[in-house]
Amino acid sequence: MRMLIKVAALGSLLVATSLYAAESAKVVDINAKASDAKRIAKEDLGTKKTVTEEALGLRKVDLYKEDTAEPVKADFSRPAPGEAQKFERAFLNAPPMIPHSVEGLLPITKDNNQCLNCHMPEAAKGVGATPLPESHFTNFRPTTVMEGSNVVKEGKVVGKDIGNTSDIKVAKAKHLKTLYQGRFNCSQCHAPQAKVDTAVANTFTPDFKDGKGKAGSTLMDVMNEGVE
Ligand code: HEC
Ligand code: HEC
Repeated sequence: MRMLIKVAALGSLLVATSLYAAESAKVVDINAKASDAKRIAKEDLGTKKTVTEEALGLRKVDLYKEDTAEPVKADFSRPAPGEAQKFERAFLNAPPMIPHSVEGLLPITKDNNQCLNCHMPEAAKGVGATPLPESHFTNFRPTTVMEGSNVVKEGKVVGKDIGNTSDIKVAKAKHLKTLYQGRFNCSQCHAPQAKVDTAVANTFTPDFKDGKGKAGSTLMDVMNEGVE
């Protein structure tokens, strides 16, 4: 039964993909309401002579009644994959936030990672998903192996060629044919989103070089910038 539902859902997803393909270039401006100048000025405690106890806490209630204050309500309902509009990156090469619903997809387990079904490069195009970038198929960590009783890091014997494991500052990036397992747990870095009024305004302004990188990754191209 579960299987049937899944197949049917994928069918409608394919239709949705072609409908929304034209829109995929547009991304949601995540700071539109959160970075309002008037709100920032109002909230800036540094500009006030006195600060009331109501203004101090994030919940905006008397600090002595915090235990009974209700947390803000968040609406976690999101459009299904294929129907969501992507969010602008929080900053250059930030992990993109998950724009679609994750119902039934989380938690990711050793034997069940449905994210891969749609985001592996060979599947992504067909469902209109962003393919996993090359960085997720790269091991940036130094190779560490045991040779007899020696710990060998990037070909150097620890305690002989190098003093400490941390003496290896730059490892050779190793390009893999399969997903680097350090990237298996997608939701460790990519977070599902909710509709919620932010407790405070966002004063951070990301700096996108020439406006590039708002809607996609440039990491692998800029990785070695400034590195000799
Ligand atoms: C049924 C297919 C499907 C599954 C399963 C799926 N996704 Fe997606 N994902 C998409 C599509 C399609 C998009 C593009 C936005 C849209 O159309 O909804 C997308 C967009 C994204 C984006 C935004 C990419 C960008 O360029 O901004 C992230 C991040 C993401 N998904 C992560 C995940 C994670 C993590 C999981 C597992 C918890 C997952 N997805 C499961 C289809 C899927
Ligand atoms: C250790 C943190 C981390 C994990 C784990 C991780 N990602 Fe990412 N992901 C990133 C970062 C950072 C970026 C942006 C820079 C880049 O492209 O590498 C990114 C970029 C992406 C993009 C956008 C690519 C583009 O070209 O714009 C997608 C899609 C994506 N990840 C999906 C996934 C999925 C699905 C998983 C699980 C299999 C996953 N990621 C696991 C950190 C992570």
